[in-house]
Formats: sequence, structure tokens, C-alpha cells
Amino acid sequence: MRVIAGTARGIRLAPVPKGVRPTSDRVRESVFNALGQFFDGGDVLDLYAGTGALGIEALSRGCERAVFVERDGRALATIRENLRRAGFGARAEVLRGDVGRVLDRMLTDGRVFNLIFADPPYRIAAMEVGGFLSRLGVLLAPEGRVVIESGEALTGSAGGKKGVTRRYGGTFVTILERSETTMIVAVCPGSFDPVTVGHLDVIRRASGIFDHVVVAVGSNLRKKPRLSAAERARLIEKVTAEFQNVSVEVMDGLLVEFARDQGAKVVVKGLRAVSDFESEFEQAQLNRKMFPELETVFIMASAEHSFLSSSVVREIASLGGDVRGLVPDGILETVREIYSGSDGNI
Ligand code: PNS
Repeated sequence: MRVIAGTARGIRLAPVPKGVRPTSDRVRESVFNALGQFFDGGDVLDLYAGTGALGIEALSRGCERAVFVERDGRALATIRENLRRAGFGARAEVLRGDVGRVLDRMLTDGRVFNLIFADPPYRIAAMEVGGFLSRLGVLLAPEGRVVIESGEALTGSAGGKKGVTRRYGGTFVTILERSETTMIVAVCPGSFDPVTVGHLDVIRRASGIFDHVVVAVGSNLRKKPRLSAAERARLIEKVTAEFQNVSVEVMDGLLVEFARDQGAKVVVKGLRAVSDFESEFEQAQLNRKMFPELETVFIMASAEHSFLSSSVVREIASLGGDVRGLVPDGILETVREIYSGSDGNI
């Protein structure tokens, strides 16, 4: 493995120690191509540094200083050897320790970096990086970038709809800007059988508060929906198409797991009346027990929707009544067709 470009170009790096997965030459080259003319001074932070090849490449291309964080003793020795070979010893700091703890210390010290690499061992994977992504955002200079390598397509916190993700064989590389690391994603879960104008009002208002809202079409095990989750999701997509920061996903398992995968910090729910409160309070408490960092936030239903529910829509439609004004106009005909023949199923 050699330094690809810059002042240390061509310098051969030390052999990769056992147990360390180096970033392949192809991925390294592509990452630096994607970053372009980014390296005009500034500091780079290389987390899970391994051989230090990424940070050293950044130093070679013009970063001023680098901090390498690694836990493995052999990898640390390799980083030091590589810095010596490239002649960058004086511009680097090599820290041994747990990435989370080092980040906390850096936040306290008010450190700022222009470029942060996070290339965790695949067994640590996206989850851990997702967990401290917002901390990375705070450490990042305004025009900075976070580059995350992973063995799987990242969703939510560590990528997904945010940033640009490219695939190189079995490696996924996501490049995030600062704003994308500090984004607050909210999940708006429900059965949406069917989506009503009350739901849409809550989704719209949530989209005005949070950076991104993921509508999660789930299955309430106490209910038997008329439409599959994918079909219900399609109807919501249709009526939320005008909202730039709203996306719709099917949620198969637990809400807390879904939220974690999406990198969401918040669950948003609509609250219509005191009668909703008990069940919502119970769910919020249970979800909090399973995922303490996830906050449940309630948006009070608009007065004109306080009587409205999917179940009254189903009942009215099944008995041949008019559901205009109760469901969004864009799906009125579909709802009429689908639910008019139903048994109400309320
Ligand atoms: O519109 P609904 O029926 O009130 O929505 C309920 C839903 C889908 C949000 C809820 O049942 C849910 O979160 N399901 C996912 C499974 C889960 O996490 N269950 C534990 C909740 S305490």
C-alpha cells in the first residue's frame, strides 16, 4: 500500500498488521477523488485509524494536522511507523483509546476538524457510528466533511437519505456535510388504515419542525388492516409528495429498532383527546424503556380533526357514506373503492 498523491506520494506504507482491515487502494482513491480539492490546510481526524492510511493521505494532500484514534496496540505501532515513513510525525497526534470516550474529550476541549474519517471494523459497524454522529457534527468545521466506511448500506443516522453513498464491492462509503450530521430526524408511526386528513395535518406540522420526517407504516398487532403496509405506504407517499423532507417507509418490527435504523431522535405522534392519552403514554414509556434516548413528542390535533380516526373513515366508507374531507382528496376515490366493500373492520 502506498500514499497515492501529494507530498508523500509513492511512499510505501508498512505491512498491514493482522486483524486490521485496510481501506483498499481503490476505495481510498475514490474517496479522495470524491472529496476533490478539499485539502487546503485544516485538521483531519482519523477514527478507527487502522494503519492510518486515510489520515496520512489527507496530510500528504494538504491537511495541516491529523489526529489518529485507535485501540489496537499493533495498529498503533503501524500508524507511528507510517507517519515516520511519510515524514509526518510532527504533524500528527496518535491517541490510544475508545472512540466514544476520545470524542467526548475532544468535545470538552472544543476541538474542530475539517475532515473526519470513520472506518470502523465491520462488526462494530454503522450502529456505533450512528450513535455518535451528532457528536461528529459538533466537532466538524462549517465546511467540513465526515467520511464513513461500512460493510452495509447505511440508513438513517449514518447515511440513507443523507449524504452521498457510493458502493465499491462490499464497501459502502458515505460522505456527509456538517448539516447532515446534525439533522434531526423524526419518525411518525401509525397504521394509517387509511391515512386521514388528521394524519396529514400532523405530518405536515412535524415536517415544519424537524429536518426530516419518516412516516413509518407499521402494523398494530391489535388491528387487521384492510390494505398491506406497502399499499398503505403508497397512499401516504401520494399525499405527502409535496413535502420535500418527508419520506415513507414500511416498518416491520419494533418502532424503537426502526427509529434506531433511521437515526431518528424523535417519535412524533398526534394526540386528539384525553382518550388517546393513556395508550400513547403507555407506548411512549415502553419505547423509552427500550430506547431511552428516543423522545416521544406529541402534536395536538387541530380542533377540526379531533373527532377523526381511520376507524371512523373505514366505518363510514363501508356503510356507503361520504368520506370527502376526511381523507386527502388525492386518495378519495381509492379509499372509496377499497373500503366501501369492506366489513368496516373497526
Ligand atoms: O395508528 P396506530 O394503530 O395507533 O399505530 C400504532 C403503531 C403502529 C404506531 C404501534 O402499534 C407501533 O409502534 N407498532 C410497532 C411495534 C412496536 O414497536 N410495538 C411496541 C410499541 S410499545
